[in-house]
Amino acid sequence: MADRDGPDGPDERWKTAIRAVIPLFGFIMCRSFIPTTMSLTLDSPVIRNAPTIPPSSSTGKLPALGWNTWNAYRCNISEEKILAAGQQFVDLGLQRAGYEYVNIDDCWSAKSGRDPNTKRIVPDSAKFPNGIDQVASKIHDLGLKIGIYSDAGTKTCAGYPGSLGNEFTDASTFADWGIDYLKYDNCNVPHNWTDKRPPNNDWYYSYSAIRFRQMTAALANQSRPIQYDLCIWGDARVWEWGAKVGHSWRITPDSTPTWDFILDAITTNVDILNRVDFYSHNDMDMMEIGNGKLTLQEERTHFAAWAFMKSPILLGTDLGNLSQVQLGILQNPEILAFHQDAMYGQPAMPFKNAGSLKTSPPEYYSGQSVKGLHVFVINLGDRSSEKSINFTSVPGLGYNSSGLVLVHDMWTGQDIGLYRDSYNFSMEAHDTAAFALHLPSVTFPVQETIRSSSRTLLSQIRTPEAITAGT
Ligand code: GAL
Repeated sequence: MADRDGPDGPDERWKTAIRAVIPLFGFIMCRSFIPTTMSLTLDSPVIRNAPTIPPSSSTGKLPALGWNTWNAYRCNISEEKILAAGQQFVDLGLQRAGYEYVNIDDCWSAKSGRDPNTKRIVPDSAKFPNGIDQVASKIHDLGLKIGIYSDAGTKTCAGYPGSLGNEFTDASTFADWGIDYLKYDNCNVPHNWTDKRPPNNDWYYSYSAIRFRQMTAALANQSRPIQYDLCIWGDARVWEWGAKVGHSWRITPDSTPTWDFILDAITTNVDILNRVDFYSHNDMDMMEIGNGKLTLQEERTHFAAWAFMKSPILLGTDLGNLSQVQLGILQNPEILAFHQDAMYGQPAMPFKNAGSLKTSPPEYYSGQSVKGLHVFVINLGDRSSEKSINFTSVPGLGYNSSGLVLVHDMWTGQDIGLYRDSYNFSMEAHDTAAFALHLPSVTFPVQETIRSSSRTLLSQIRTPEAITAGT
């Protein structure tokens, strides 16, 4: 059958017309989308005018240690609850252990908006009848520090006034009130601040980073140092530029009291641990210890992993509900000392322990502190299992195969004993073991070590004499 329309029939004319229109359509699309993406260069006005001031070096050297209202109370906060938490820091020994920050999260302000004259955010008068400054001064009287929360968008995540465009007003309000720490969230970002591909793929020049940089500059303009946490949930490759903007930055979604969350946070952090050092901390989010569901071993891992990765540790429960065992975990002096070490800023890093499986996240980590070399081992398994630290695998230990290693348990504060080649031990499901390893000098008091060890461990101890005799 002959072609119904022929070469110049209506079908062909349509096709010709469409072919002519396509480039025009493409041009319009390009005008509206691609040039905005392509046009982000270092010369773009938003980028050119963005502040480059670094965060304060008078605070934030070490990862924060404290408490935050959100996981415990959500929006149901008040002056009483915050002051009670401060008092509990003192009464429960948390302050003595090093906990310092009492932080107010979302929902502290009047939802209706700012003061029409001063443009300042106004505290909710039912929750804070005496204002935030009064609470701050009572927290300071306890020898503690106080934190507050705002957002690099038009509203906070719970819908209260945000600080975007009001950074200087809000930073000066916080400073006037005596605030020491700001958690700055990332909700309700207006359309014109949506991220576009930054020049040279350097996310310090992304619109996200610039929203947070505006607050860095505003905080720098205040007479008191304010520690600055970027609550950006790992967006915009924050670990690449966070240290130029703040002291710590969230790398995870919101915490939940589940083993899965703990594992995910550790797994995420493992890949970016080289970003962690003094003034520079990947924030794995607030603690869930005390919020049910986790086993004792999972709580130990939650605390120990946050500590050896040098994440901020902000407790997130009603402190009055913590058991003695939970308080014991949270106040463990040796693990907290590793976290707060003023000489060594780097976290423990994963290492390949000979004979162990390759897992995700890794199970074996080592790191340095003023006390020496530490090894942390996580049992990822769902049942108890045997672990072995192979001394020649431990980076920095400098193990010489003819020598002995003194193994010290950081959880109990006790020396376990002297071992050659490796230390084998059994672990409960989901637990974390924490050790200090020392190469004792010739004069090391072996008998003392043996005496201070527990009965069960005594059987594992092999003295140098026994080792030499091959028994
Ligand atoms: C989330 C943040 C939480 C909490 C909450 C308050 O974005 O990750 O930690 O601050 O907002 O609305």
